Amino acid sequence: MNQASESVSAAIDPAAIPKRRLYTGATMPAIGLGTFGSDHVTANQVAEAVKGAAAVGYRHFDCASVYGNEAEVGASLEGIQRAGIEREELWVTSKLWNDKHGEDDVIPQCRKSLADLRLEYLDLYLVHWPFPNFHPPGCDVSSRSADAKPYIHENYMKTWRKMEELVDLGLVRHIGTSNMTIPKLKLLLRDARIKPAVNEMELHPHFQQPELFEFVVENGIQPIGYCPIGSPGRPERDRTPEDTAPTEDPVVVKIAQAHGIHPAVACIKWAVQRGQTPIPFSINHYRANLAGIVGDPLTDEEMREIAGIDRHCRLIKGQVFLWKDGQTWEDLWDIDGEITPA
Ligand SMILES: NC(=O)c1ccc[n+]([C@@H]2O[C@H](COP(=O)([O-])OP(=O)(O)OC[C@H]3O[C@@H](n4cnc5c(N)ncnc54)[C@H](OP(=O)(O)O)[C@@H]3O)[C@@H](O)[C@H]2O)c1
Repeated sequence: MNQASESVSAAIDPAAIPKRRLYTGATMPAIGLGTFGSDHVTANQVAEAVKGAAAVGYRHFDCASVYGNEAEVGASLEGIQRAGIEREELWVTSKLWNDKHGEDDVIPQCRKSLADLRLEYLDLYLVHWPFPNFHPPGCDVSSRSADAKPYIHENYMKTWRKMEELVDLGLVRHIGTSNMTIPKLKLLLRDARIKPAVNEMELHPHFQQPELFEFVVENGIQPIGYCPIGSPGRPERDRTPEDTAPTEDPVVVKIAQAHGIHPAVACIKWAVQRGQTPIPFSINHYRANLAGIVGDPLTDEEMREIAGIDRHCRLIKGQVFLWKDGQTWEDLWDIDGEITPA
């Protein structure tokens, strides 16, 4: 039985799914379905998963123009609403891609995502990366754009002003950031008229980012955690020999066995209980991931054990954003607490 046919009899009540309250007072489901097909899951497969996920109780969908499937996902979102789920019950996120940071590009790009997703408004629109650097979809990590630029706060603010305008126009209910660091967020918080409601960041048991996590929470920004399972299906270009897999960690495996669940589900349980909002991608296991966050919580001791296995292992390193020769990917992440100089 595939996920979609299993779904109707085994739906989980969306009211039972934990919610996150944002600083605006709005609530967002504390788990979403990721929709990046990692270059090997087709747009139609992802669109089917969106439909099936809604049928089992998901209401939150993490989309992006660069995933190349918003039109197909949009057809599913339309079908979901036609089947009786109200727009207000859904939480749909999209993201502005890196070659569209220009002041004249932001609003048309958002309108394009809205048209593809067949929506009148987005619940959340993110600046996908803080670097305005074009690279073709699927390119190798060694690929560099000839006119790649570092983070230039003045330019980011020009993009952000347009993001704020999207809220004023009613096209978007919340705006947020992704792949930011503490020093970059400090500048944005200083200068924003509408502050980010969320920061989307890599978060899993082997990459817990405690400082950034605490910083965003203290500033009333909700952390959304991507690659919550350690992205076992990520493209080859995003793999290095040093990478580790949280689902193979003996602590995660032991805890999963104690609860009778897959280690992936243990990662999702941990994420929701810690306070982030995981957005696991799945075409085959989305029901198990949703069911995992309702009931049978991890114990305090299990939460402490997982807190102790952080390997500081960033999987999505962002190499394609490097802007000059001789740099390493760590330069993108302001490791010493200062924005890496141009
Ligand atoms: N903002 C950003 O820059 C950014 C970057 C990366 C990702 N994202 C977002 O985050 C989402 C999630 O990240 P991700 O897709 O890289 O990785 P992920 O969610 O950590 O891992 C997805 C993989 O895990 C498998 N899986 C899921 N649940 C499972 C379970 N219960 N048991 C066994 N395997 C399971 C899936 O396989 P099946 O399909 O077979 O279930 C899929 O191969 C993306 O789809 C995207 O929406 C955002």
